[in-house]
Formats: sequence, structure tokens, C-alpha cells
Amino acid sequence: MNKVVIVTGGAGYIGSHTVVELFNAGFTPVLLDDFRNSQPWIIDRLEQLMGVRPLVHEVDCQDAIAVEEVFARYTNCDGVIHFAADKAVGESVVNPVKYYQNNVGSLCVILNAMKRFHLENLVFSSSCTVYGESDEIVVTEESPVKSAVSPYGDTKITCERIIRYQIEAEQDLKAFLLRYFNPIGAHPSGLIGELPQGVPNNLVPYITQTAKGIREKLTVFGGDYHTPDGTNIRDYIHVCDLARAHVLALNYLSSKEKPFCDVLNLGTGKGTSVLELITTFEDVNELKLNYTIGDRRSGDVEQIYANTQKAKEVLDWSCDFSLGDALRHSWQWEKGIKEHS
Ligand code: UFG
Repeated sequence: MNKVVIVTGGAGYIGSHTVVELFNAGFTPVLLDDFRNSQPWIIDRLEQLMGVRPLVHEVDCQDAIAVEEVFARYTNCDGVIHFAADKAVGESVVNPVKYYQNNVGSLCVILNAMKRFHLENLVFSSSCTVYGESDEIVVTEESPVKSAVSPYGDTKITCERIIRYQIEAEQDLKAFLLRYFNPIGAHPSGLIGELPQGVPNNLVPYITQTAKGIREKLTVFGGDYHTPDGTNIRDYIHVCDLARAHVLALNYLSSKEKPFCDVLNLGTGKGTSVLELITTFEDVNELKLNYTIGDRRSGDVEQIYANTQKAKEVLDWSCDFSLGDALRHSWQWEKGIKEHS
């Protein structure tokens, strides 16, 4: 019998790609998703990719009773990967309670359920947002966690802290806090990818929607930063490379006996400016993008990228895909999407 892994938010962007990687590595993923930020037809696509329909439970992870009912069915479960969360930075400023309630509330439900059913392996979706306005451009896991620049960021800092406190309080837990940099790209098959609701906040979906004619033009938020070309620098990682790290993290947790909590940065280790990304998108897809340089967006950090040495050492993980691959896959995915809300 394959090892069962519960994947909350398994129909979401990173979740769905992780489900495929888990399946390819011989796990049986069990998805918990309430489809508030995802589409049920992604499950059909997962079935196409895997050759079998994944097990799915339509559950809101804030609903402790419903979550525990699902956990009760998988007592042989090997671990939990907890993706389910709201993630729009701007929305979190307008509606902070929604973010604390969902992101922090869901984690508490998951931790209680894990305790009740004696599950010990937890992989938690965190973000480089915990580094805030970092004094360092290349951040390591030792770089200080700053006070968050948004309620969303604060929920990630809070969740990380809750997991550590639970382990100190002797919940038998082995946990990885995975701090993602900027996930982009889509599955090379073009069958799954990012599905932003409404107008995208993030750069790459805005670019692909502009290229498709859904948006008139892209505005580059600020051209007067202290960077070589004046635009922000980020660390853009292919979602499939990111997804694969979750499988390795889970295997690592399973191989350990004693409770622990560790943090890993997941990025490429390479900084890319907004203009470099646009040029690469144009080159690999042989098209021209309509864009202008506009004002800075409030809350944007000037430049940040990952030192990924630790993830390499601990998980023996590194990225397979290039920036160009990711941008080709994003465009291929976008072209295949029939409708946007
Ligand atoms: N950008 C534009 N125009 C756009 C959208 C984005 O120029 O229309 C720029 C931003 O200013 C930034 C870069 O593209 O320089 C990347 O922006 P994203 O919104 O795609 O990503 P962020 O780096 O702002 O945000 C990401 C995650 C968040 C996380 C944050 C932490 O999406 O979840 O990193 O820094 F909180």
C-alpha cells in the first residue's frame, strides 16, 4: 500500500503541482480543498496527469469537525502538507481578520487533528515575506524575521511560531517550514497552472494575461530602485521544482525519529529584475509585451533572493528548470485557459 499524504489546498497552484510530484514518487495524495481559491476541474486535470482520479474531500480547513472526520479515514497517513491559506497581500490589508481566521485558524485545526490521530510529519507552506524589509539582499534561514509588512505576512510568521511552540510543548511533531520565494511557471504538460481570481496581483500571471490580450498593458511598479536597471529584484522559482522539494521534505521527516522543526528557503538562489523577466518572457515566447514603467507599489521590498545552500544540503535538492522554462510553461498554460473571471 502506498504511503498516504494529506494535502490541504491540494487543488491550488502549488498544491496541485505537489500532488503530481507526490504521486510520481509513489505516494497516495489525499486532497482537502474547499475550492474557494481553486477550481474543481483541476481535479480532472490531475486525473489526466496521474492516470487515476485523486482522492478529494471538499472541506474547509477551519472546520475542525469536518477535518477530523477526514483524518479519521486515513489513520495510516504518513504526513500532512498544509498549503490551504489565503495569500493576497493587498486583500489582507483590507480584511486582516479573514487572514488571521483562515490562515492561523486552519493551522490550529490541522495541528489538533494531527495530535488526535498521532500524525507526526508536517510540511508547512511559509513565505520569504517573513524576512520583511531585510537588511540583507541574499537571505539565509538565519536572517532575522522582521515585523511583517502585511497581515498576510504576519499570519505566516505567526503560523511558524505556533508550530515551534507546539513542538516545545511536546506535541510529537517533525516539521519543515518551507519559505517560498516567487513561484512561477506551470506543469510542462500545460494541464495545470496558476489560476488567479480576477485581476492578478502577481507579475507573471499579469504578464501572461497581457500577452493574451485580457489586460491592456503591464505596469512595471517602479523604475527608480537602487538596482542595476532600476526595477525590483526577486527570486523566481519554477513551481515544479518547488513541488519536488515538498516530496523530499516529507521523505526526510519520515526518516527521522525525534521531534524537530527546521526552516528551509526554497528559491533558485538567483536574483532577476522585473525588466529581465519581461525580456526573457518575450525572448522564449517570441512575442512583444505591452508595458510601461509606472510608480512604485507600496510595500514592495527593493530586492531579495534566497541563499539555497541549506535546502541543497539537507534535502539534496536543486532546481531543474530555468527562468526561460518557467516562462514558456506559464505562457503555454495561459494560452490553454478558456475563461477568466
Ligand atoms: N510587479 C509589477 N507589476 C505588476 C505586478 C508585479 O511590476 O503588475 C512587480 C512587483 O513590483 C515586484 C515583482 O513584480 O517587484 C514581483 O511581484 P509579485 O506581486 O509577483 O510578487 P511579490 O514579490 O510582491 O510577492 C511575493 C508573493 C507574496 C509574498 C511576497 C513576499 O506573491 O505572497 O512575495 O515578498 F508575500
